[in-house]
Amino acid sequence: MKVGIIGFGRIGKVHAESLIRYGKDIEIKAISDPFISEESKNWAKANGIKDIYTDYDKILTDKKIDIVLICAPTDKHFIISKEAILKGKHVFCEKPVSHNVKEILEIKKLLEKHDVLYQVGFNRRFDKNFAALKEKVQSGVIGDLNILKITSRDPAPPPISYVKVSGGIFLDMTIHDFDMARYVSGEEVEEVFAFGGVMVDEEIGKAGDIDTAIISLKFKSGVLAVIDNSRKAVYGYDQRVEAFGSKGQILARNELEDTTVIATEDGILSRNPKYFFLERYMQAYTEEIKQFVEAIKTKSKTVCGIDDGLKPVLIGLAAKKSIEENRPVKISEIEKEYGI
Ligand SMILES: NC(=O)c1ccc[n+]([C@@H]2O[C@H](COP(=O)([O-])OP(=O)(O)OC[C@H]3O[C@@H](n4cnc5c(N)ncnc54)[C@H](O)[C@@H]3O)[C@@H](O)[C@H]2O)c1
Repeated sequence: MKVGIIGFGRIGKVHAESLIRYGKDIEIKAISDPFISEESKNWAKANGIKDIYTDYDKILTDKKIDIVLICAPTDKHFIISKEAILKGKHVFCEKPVSHNVKEILEIKKLLEKHDVLYQVGFNRRFDKNFAALKEKVQSGVIGDLNILKITSRDPAPPPISYVKVSGGIFLDMTIHDFDMARYVSGEEVEEVFAFGGVMVDEEIGKAGDIDTAIISLKFKSGVLAVIDNSRKAVYGYDQRVEAFGSKGQILARNELEDTTVIATEDGILSRNPKYFFLERYMQAYTEEIKQFVEAIKTKSKTVCGIDDGLKPVLIGLAAKKSIEENRPVKISEIEKEYGI
C-alpha cells in the first residue's frame, strides 16, 4: 500500500516515522506541504520518499496512493478529508476533524456512501497506560465506575498566533480529554458544567481564550467525570487518569524522563514527567498508525472513527457555552442546534 502525507510539520513527520518503523508492505510515496522546510525535505529524501509536492492535489490525483494522512493545520482538515474521500482514499485525519459541526456531519454523510476507512487522530487511546486502564475498567476490576478524574496540563502555552486560530482551549486541548472520558468509560456524556480562568498568560485572555479550566461531565448512566486543564505546568506535561469505582480505583500515572530516584538527607527526588506530547506519546502515535493500517488490511472498522471525531466537538461546544452562560449545558442542546 502506498501512502501520501499532507502537511509535513511536527505531527506529519511523527506519523512518517511510525510508518517507516511499521515497514512491512507500506511505502510513503509522497508528501505535500506548501511551506516545507529544507530540513524536512532532506529528511524525506533520505528516507526514500520519492515525490515532494507543494500542492496536495497531486497526492489526491495519484491513483497509486491508497492512504492519505491529513496533518495540515486544522482549518484544512475538512476540505482535504472531503476531497480525499471523493477520490476513494482511506483517510487518517488529525484531530479535530473541524471546529464546525456541520462540516463533520458532511464528512460523516460522505463516509456512508464511500467504501473507505476514516480514522481521527485521538492518539491517547493508543497509549499503553490508558489502554490498560480502560481494559481494567471495562473488565470490572473496580466494579461499577463512579468517578473518572483526568488531569491534563501542558508544560507551556502555545504561541498567541496559534491560540487565535486554535478554536479555544476546549476544541484544541481538552478535546483529547473529552475523548479519553468517552474511551475509558465506554459511555456518552449527557451534561457539562465548566469553569475557567486566565492564570497563565493575560495575552491568552486578550486573544479571547482561557488557559485554566475545570470541566465536570455527567454521563448518561450517571457516572461523573472531572477534567482539569492548565496551559502551564512548570514540572512538565502532566497526564494522569484515575478511575474510581465500587470495588476500588485504578491510576495511570505520569511517565517520567527516567526512573532514577535520588534519596539524600534533604529528601527523595524523582524525575519530571516527560516534557511534552512528542516525548510522552511516541509509543501511542506508532500504535495508532499501526492499528489504522491493520484496519485497512483486514477491512475492519477503525478504532476511532468519524463519530469519535464528532462527539468531543459537541462536548467542547457545550463546555464553551457553559462558561459563557455560567450554567450546566446538556449535549442534547448542542445537538438540537445542528439537527442531530
Ligand atoms: N494528536 C496529536 O497529539 C496532535 C499533536 C500535534 C498536532 N496535532 C494536530 O495536527 C495538525 C498539525 O499540527 P502540527 O503541530 O503538526 O502543526 P505544524 O505547523 O508543525 O505543521 C503543519 C504543516 O502543515 C503545512 N500546511 C499548511 N497548509 C497546508 C496545505 N494546504 N497542504 C499541506 N500542508 C499544509 C504547514 O506548512 C506545516 O508544515 C493540527 O490540526 C493539530 O491539531 C495533533
